[in-house]
Amino acid sequence: MDRAELIAYVRAQGDGVVSSLGPDGSPQAAYLPITATDRAELVFDARATSRKIANLRRNPGVAVVVGGRDGTTLQCEGVADLPAGAARDLCARAYLDAFPQFEASLSDDGVVLVRVRLTWARYGDYRPGFSSSAEVPLVVVRRIRADEWALARALRLDALRDAAAGIAFLETYERATAEPDEFFQDRAARAAAGDDVAQLVAVDGETWAGSVTVIVQRAGSVDYHGVPVERSRAVVVGVYVRPEHRGDGLIDRLLDSAAQWARDQGFDELSLGVHRDNARAQGAYRRAGFVPSGVTFTGSIGPELEMVRPL
Ligand SMILES: CC(C)(COP(=O)(O)OP(=O)(O)OC[C@H]1O[C@@H](n2cnc3c(N)ncnc32)[C@H](O)[C@@H]1OP(=O)(O)O)[C@@H](O)C(=O)NCCC(=O)NCCS
Repeated sequence: MDRAELIAYVRAQGDGVVSSLGPDGSPQAAYLPITATDRAELVFDARATSRKIANLRRNPGVAVVVGGRDGTTLQCEGVADLPAGAARDLCARAYLDAFPQFEASLSDDGVVLVRVRLTWARYGDYRPGFSSSAEVPLVVVRRIRADEWALARALRLDALRDAAAGIAFLETYERATAEPDEFFQDRAARAAAGDDVAQLVAVDGETWAGSVTVIVQRAGSVDYHGVPVERSRAVVVGVYVRPEHRGDGLIDRLLDSAAQWARDQGFDELSLGVHRDNARAQGAYRRAGFVPSGVTFTGSIGPELEMVRPL
């Protein structure tokens, strides 16, 4: 099952069991009509005073099971919220498309619409003659395409406005935003093909959730700090995961994909520079198999250390 099939499945089933955590941490479950938006978010409604809404306000973590009657089932986990504005309009439209009979309840002030953004899903098929279950790939990691330069630009500008940008990126928001379209078109074209640079992106439906770029620095050239390169190497730069996707393992998948690309180019090591004070990035890199090489240097963003991952 892929993302589009997940949406179709939830819409066809139309109901499911939602589990949340009660005030003392014990599980509570409720059976509800459920549908999905075009972005693969689950949507249901509930009384604002219900215990499930109190639970989700306290702890937005939620597990949902859709299906089961015909031997197929979709197990999901995600994060619930009560969307407002355009996000609510989108959920309301999906909900009313599925359940036009509930139109009155949606305009009732005592009823709230809940959206669940999925972090994990698994489809199981146990009908007679079948016996399989497989995770549904909600976020796809792949190399960018040249025509995606505007998406790459938008992600980059968001990254450069991140609270950690000052200790994460050599480029500044002011400089990047002043660049003409051709700059980003050229950057995307180079990152999309060839063996000098590859940008890997995590695509969550229509949005880009994060990105890493691998650049090949050839022996005899000068690196982006102005230091001569003695031995050709593959270096990870531009590491960014949107805040709503942090902690969900996306960075590991992006770095694995970067490692695979570098391996395919014949490299036996991936390296990167990380600011001494960027503890979160260092934690993620360590978990992904990077270790400090012992090399430290001071670049334009301050003191950095080099970390390497054998391939
Ligand atoms: C760096 C980034 C890509 C990491 O992705 P992430 O999803 O946030 O990373 P994770 O949460 O999976 O991993 C962070 C690790 O550091 C740990 N960590 C988090 N905050 C920490 C802190 N303040 N001090 C020490 N360790 C910390 C976490 O516990 C986790 O380690 P664990 O899995 O061993 O528990 C993301 O935070 C990001 O985009 N940051 C802004 C841009 C940036 O800093 N880029 C890096 C430039 S070098």
